[in-house]
Amino acid sequence: MNDTAPGHDRIAVVDFGGQYAHLIAARVRRIGVLAEIREPTDPPEAFAPYRGVIISGSPALASHGEDADVDPRLLELPVPILGLCFGHQEIAKHYGGEVGHTGREYGFARLTITAETPLFAGLSPEETVWMSHQDAVTSLPEGFREIGFTTLEEDGSVHRFAAIADEERRRYGVQFHPEVDDTEHGEEMLRNFAVGICGCRPTWKVATFAEEKLDEIRRFVGDRSVLLLVSGGVDSTVCAVLLGRALGPERLRLLHIDNGLMRKGESRRVLERFRRFGLGARLHFVDAGEEFLRALEGLTDPEEKRRAIGDTFIAIFEREARRWMDGDVVLAQGTIYPDTIETGGTARADVIKTHHNRVPVIAEMIAAGRVVEPIRDLYKVEVRELGRELGLDESLLARHPFPGPGLGVRLLCAKEPPAEYEGAAANLGEVAARYGLSAVLLPLRSVGVKADLRSFELPVLLSGRDAQWERVLRAAGAIFKEVDHVNRCVLDLTGGGVERVELVPATLTRERLDLLREADHLVMEGLRRHGLMEDVWQCPTVLAPLSRNGRGREYVILRPVHSARAMTATPARLPDALAAELRKEILALPGVSGLGLDVTTKPPGTIEWE
Ligand code: XMP
Repeated sequence: MNDTAPGHDRIAVVDFGGQYAHLIAARVRRIGVLAEIREPTDPPEAFAPYRGVIISGSPALASHGEDADVDPRLLELPVPILGLCFGHQEIAKHYGGEVGHTGREYGFARLTITAETPLFAGLSPEETVWMSHQDAVTSLPEGFREIGFTTLEEDGSVHRFAAIADEERRRYGVQFHPEVDDTEHGEEMLRNFAVGICGCRPTWKVATFAEEKLDEIRRFVGDRSVLLLVSGGVDSTVCAVLLGRALGPERLRLLHIDNGLMRKGESRRVLERFRRFGLGARLHFVDAGEEFLRALEGLTDPEEKRRAIGDTFIAIFEREARRWMDGDVVLAQGTIYPDTIETGGTARADVIKTHHNRVPVIAEMIAAGRVVEPIRDLYKVEVRELGRELGLDESLLARHPFPGPGLGVRLLCAKEPPAEYEGAAANLGEVAARYGLSAVLLPLRSVGVKADLRSFELPVLLSGRDAQWERVLRAAGAIFKEVDHVNRCVLDLTGGGVERVELVPATLTRERLDLLREADHLVMEGLRRHGLMEDVWQCPTVLAPLSRNGRGREYVILRPVHSARAMTATPARLPDALAAELRKEILALPGVSGLGLDVTTKPPGTIEWE
């Protein structure tokens, strides 16, 4: 069921392992042009259906000494090619230009357009763009010309050849990222490429998709029944309603596994929601909280925790599937497009998250023609749009994303401070002081992205009497740039100075989970009360086993972010009144040592802490 409707003009996005390929494809689709992810190893014939190619990739490749293996035949395809970041450098190299290690450039920059080009048609002479890279094109290949240079906002440094073109060969390269929201007119640039330069007709729409899918589901399932796991999230809910429409409720069985790592009252809400869709009677609950707790007992390493959660989930799923899948039953999954690519396809991409929907047992069932994935060609924004077409509530569609491993990745566990904690960041105090702030390192690790790879490093806790937002953000930026081993900054909201923060060794227990659930509930209620659920894209609440100034054992961290698709994020500012209410409510919870606000951009910090 995986071939998207023929008859649409297509663009291929070749994914060299950066995180941005999906973002690019989703952006191009939003313009109305069907974009699909292709692998660097795909032979030239695989590109026959495409009217243009975008090469994206990771600056990590060069700095990690990896050979990117760009097949020269890819760069010689007889269609227009746009290279972004790494792709830009590869185009330059292929045609005889030079690329050098020019050092890390990161953040907002001003693009000055220096030549007329269809790529920048309709744009202003100066544009705001977003940069993140280490290498750069240092000399132009023959036949190419510079169509723009950039000036980095932070330090005014100028970067020549940031945009290049050879209109005759129809090759274009830009060092910045048009696919991220921070590049103000990135979508126009991609439209100029896909529609203007490649000549694609913008015909791709989600509305026609639903009709096509209902027929496809009926054909595939035949007279079998379908079992679908529902988490309560948007994807599985949209999937359930779509299947219900196609087959009728009687042939649908919905399974909800409560892993004990859900938000307060979540399972009850899931039931209510399906009742509203007339599917309540088809829903079966599996209460597996104890089983997950046992699997997590004593673990502190984030990757081990994640694995334990994933493995337990699979074991329970297999057990239940065997119970319900006797006879001729098809398994349905709410897999969406990025899920299929991240696990199976991309050899180089760092594992950002592990997906349940591609484990061996499911792969076997796929091979046996027993798995249906009705929304596997869609991106999240498109799933939401489809949900809207199917008449689902805005409140459900607008829900904040919630990770599969649930609160498990927001409850930090540690037995001792990390090895690099002692003696790290000698210059931290001096950098923070420049912004009138104090800073201490936190004795645990949190995950971040460094040049597209996951890396575990130390967070910093900032405090100050007059900690103005803009100044705090600038301080955080300076710390990320100048202080080693740090990927995250938290602003202390507790009140009073921070003298010391110590680790209180802890693992994952029900008691801690309940405390986190309560804190998270207060935060969500607060955001709702202040009408911020839409403005804030996601707001994890994190529990870190830390005492503050010798008191308490659990430090609560709020992580409100603005984002579009989670690839990049900026910290969201909370209104003073909300911060004051949360301080009062959360500090009153038993064992809580303090309250902090994560002020980290992504990159370098991820949205979640593990
Ligand atoms: P990060 O933390 O990488 O998160 O900035 C990006 C988005 O993905 C969600 N996330 C997950 N979702 N399983 C999931 O289904 C996971 O293991 C996982 N980890 C992170 C995160 O909540 C954010 O929306």
